[in-house]
Amino acid sequence: MKNLRVLGAKGSREEIARTIASCALSDKQYEELLAGAIDADRLKAVKWILRQSPLEKWSPIRAFEMAIVSGKLNIVRWIFEKETIPLDNGIFMLVGRHGHVDIFTYLSSQICKRPRENVHWPDSVRRIDTNVYPEGDDGHDEEEDEFCGCANGCDEGCYNRGMQLYCHEDNCHQGPNCGNRFTSHENAITLFDTGSSKGIGAKANQDIPAGTLIVEYVGEIIDIDQVRARNYPFYTMHLEGDLYIDAARVGNNSRFFNHRCQDQNCEIQKWGRGARTRIGIFSKRDIAIGEELLIRYAGELPFACECGAKCCVSKQK
Ligand SMILES: C[S@@+](CC[C@H](N)C(=O)[O-])C[C@H]1O[C@@H](n2cnc3c(N)ncnc32)[C@H](O)[C@@H]1O
Ligand SMILES: [Zn+2]
Ligand SMILES: [Zn+2]
Ligand SMILES: [Zn+2]
Repeated sequence: MKNLRVLGAKGSREEIARTIASCALSDKQYEELLAGAIDADRLKAVKWILRQSPLEKWSPIRAFEMAIVSGKLNIVRWIFEKETIPLDNGIFMLVGRHGHVDIFTYLSSQICKRPRENVHWPDSVRRIDTNVYPEGDDGHDEEEDEFCGCANGCDEGCYNRGMQLYCHEDNCHQGPNCGNRFTSHENAITLFDTGSSKGIGAKANQDIPAGTLIVEYVGEIIDIDQVRARNYPFYTMHLEGDLYIDAARVGNNSRFFNHRCQDQNCEIQKWGRGARTRIGIFSKRDIAIGEELLIRYAGELPFACECGAKCCVSKQK
């Protein structure tokens, strides 16, 4: 079943199947839709197909047509996100305003993307575990660090922890007993396609307790002049002084955390000091398996926000 099929139907499975068959798109039309370049002529073809449906008078079908006419396929996505109940792969039930039920079957992931797991890591981005410093600078401080003096592992009472300094070999003798290392739990994250303009997102693949360092935000360490020269704010985070982390070209799963305007379940914390400063994404509260992991981006958003929160900035415009 390769065709995009649009159907409005109330009735038995057989009736539904007949209506699906009557409004299937040809392979060519399907390819055109997938290509996303819907010009006026192609549009007519799509509308013509829709008119084949005996049920085109139904308002959800008109809404679908209108979305295609306006070239705003994201409206279609919106309609489905807001008003549909996913039944199973590719089949959605749409409850219309007048109480009738329509079923739209489409296999086009472009037109109606549903959240999908196991997305591919982008080829253009190199995976790294730790920050990449400019050549000749390993990111270590000139200053001597003081040792915390803990004797039985480092916990709540550890001096370093109290100062929001993570422990390392130059300020803690506790080695494997230390409970204050900057240790990520990146395996608690699965990347997924949000199915919206948000693109790829990160979600919890297990319950995560509040206060967990989920993942360190890593990337290239660049200065303010490079930030300005690169001019893409999307993956840049301030580290300390005039240094920034840019995860556009290199990074780990942290670069896929999307923004939410309100009630984020994760937060950014800076630990360490001077050139030892590191950024962690921590859980703000207990997070349940399956939840999307969301932070608040600093400053004005350079994109139209689709976070869905009540106080979303895009609703205030
Ligand atoms: C740090 S990246 C997050 C990962 C990104 N989703 C991706 O697929 O690579 C930031 C970009 O994600 C998208 N994004 C994040 N949060 C969003 C939101 N609430 N609404 C719309 N787009 C969002 C924007 O395109 C933004 O420039
Ligand atoms: Zn300690
Ligand atoms: Zn320690
Ligand atoms: Zn928002």
